[in-house]
Formats: sequence, structure tokens, C-alpha cells
Amino acid sequence: MAVHFVLDTKELPEGTHTIVTVNGREIGLYHLNGSYYALNNYCPHYGAPLCAGHVGGTNLPSDVYQYEYGKQGQIVRCPWHGWEFDIKTGVSLFDDKIRTRTYPVEVRDGKIGIVLGK
Ligand code: FES
Repeated sequence: MAVHFVLDTKELPEGTHTIVTVNGREIGLYHLNGSYYALNNYCPHYGAPLCAGHVGGTNLPSDVYQYEYGKQGQIVRCPWHGWEFDIKTGVSLFDDKIRTRTYPVEVRDGKIGIVLGK
């Protein structure tokens, strides 16, 4: 496992994201509620650049005729066909067996690092 430091924390303010390339992999890096998340920039449906998609929220499970919106800023919608994924986990909203890869993130001395395996 190696940590690849890609940005200063000042370069990624709260609520923003960017796409970085590490060892040839495109990775979306998100700053969400004080934490950082790294998501593979690849949609498991047809391979779209997932992290170019809109970031928003979703309707939460609720009773019939109840509509509760939540997870604002935590859901990315694929720009090609609209599949939605939780940025924190990489899991799709409609089937928890469908996911895109996530990577651990470390912050050291004001630098954001993405942890890659072999
Ligand atoms: S390529 Fe992402 S939903 Fe189709």
C-alpha cells in the first residue's frame, strides 16, 4: 500500500471535488462534511467518467406519501444514464451489489493522499 499525495487541503474546499490521476487511474476526490473520499472515475454500467456527474442528494426511505430528501452532497449521478452512487461507499442506490471502487484517503501535514494497493 502506498499513499500518493495529490493536493493541498486548501485546494479542495468543503463541498467541492476534483479529478486526479494516480498511477494512470482517474480518481474523483471529494471533500464532504469535513472528510475526504476517493472514488474511481469509472461507472460500472458502461464505463462513463462517473465523477464528472452532478453531485446532489436523494429521497430517503420513508412511509407511503412521505417524501424526505437527504444525503445532500453525498450522491453522484452518472452523466451518461443517471445511475446514482453514494460517494462515501461507492455503492449504487438501486442495488447494493453494484458499486464503483473507493480508496482510503489520508491527510498529513496539510496534504491529501490517496492510498492505493498493489
Ligand atoms: S455509464 Fe453510468 S449509468 Fe450508464
